[in-house]
Amino acid sequence: MSKVSVIGVGDVGATAAYTLQMSGLATEIVLVDMDRTKAEGHAMDMSHGLFFVPPVEIRAGGYDDCAGSQAIVVTAGARQRPGESRLELTKRNAAICRSLVDGLKPHVGDAVLLVVSNPVDVMTDVAQERSGLPPGRVFGSGTVLDSARFRYELSRTCGVDARNVHAFVVGEHGDSEVFLWSQVHIAGTPIEAFCGGCSHACVPGDAAASLEAARTAIETRVRGSAYHVIESKGFTNYAVSLAVLRILGALLRDESSALTVSTRVGGEYGLSGVCLSVPCIVGARGVERIIEGRLADGERAALARSADVIREATDGVRKG
Ligand SMILES: NC(=O)c1ccc[n+]([C@@H]2O[C@H](COP(=O)([O-])OP(=O)(O)OC[C@H]3O[C@@H](n4cnc5c(N)ncnc54)[C@H](O)[C@@H]3O)[C@@H](O)[C@H]2O)c1
Repeated sequence: MSKVSVIGVGDVGATAAYTLQMSGLATEIVLVDMDRTKAEGHAMDMSHGLFFVPPVEIRAGGYDDCAGSQAIVVTAGARQRPGESRLELTKRNAAICRSLVDGLKPHVGDAVLLVVSNPVDVMTDVAQERSGLPPGRVFGSGTVLDSARFRYELSRTCGVDARNVHAFVVGEHGDSEVFLWSQVHIAGTPIEAFCGGCSHACVPGDAAASLEAARTAIETRVRGSAYHVIESKGFTNYAVSLAVLRILGALLRDESSALTVSTRVGGEYGLSGVCLSVPCIVGARGVERIIEGRLADGERAALARSADVIREATDGVRKG
């Protein structure tokens, strides 16, 4: 039995639940939303497709129906408006997060809480504090999506399958995120060495462009990804849902996967008292371990600055 509850079935929650249904990973999916009719509609619609996928019970419910879940995914909240930074959403979403954690608390049992609502680092902090659960059991989707976007851009630039690209984005899931270029590997080869034998133009249409120019272009594209998608269609849902599925896979299958989820640091990388993304080992019990890798000096300083950005937003929410 693997039961997953999704709180908030808007564009992200509903797509994440549908992605989970198609994966066959869960045997039961509960959809919770303040708009119960919408949750019931999604449950019905998804259930009508059960002939085509592995068996799974899908139903709408309330907080009490989340009892017995292995994972509870929190995607409830106010949506990012065009041009609005993630941090501007903070206060609107913190109040929602507190109230739903209060509602969930009596029914959490042994579940892991996976926070997706933005700004995800601050919401993870709010959910962890409010729930009183151990830090490992409450974590955010963090920069798992950003790391995937980083790999996608590298794969296009280098002309290599994204699955052969190893690269992490850490820090805030937002503007101050940090690209760990010192750790980028392609098929086990550090990127600088890979570049030696490569004939691909690093910047499309500019054969003479350097890796340095490509780096800046890649970072700009990844940082602007959510803004561009939101400007085009009003919301993001597909890639984030696949990121959620990847994390749920690590939880439900106890995979001990290395993922850049948002977790409360306790001295790692010289940081503490803040939730942010760093590479973590994720298994059935949630975040089992933070991996403290070796960063370049500039990366370590940028991570500290990113932590300050999140800390300021988190403090603002705690005071307000
Ligand atoms: N972390 C990431 O990588 C990432 C990516 C995309 C979106 N997001 C975030 O996910 C969240 C959801 O985005 P969306 O596009 O699905 O928004 P949406 O507006 O489509 O859906 C939000 C849903 O939450 C519900 N809701 C609000 N308050 C609730 C409560 N107290 N209890 C239960 N349900 C409640 C609403 O009824 C709605 O159905 C946003 O905060 C968004 O910024 C995060």
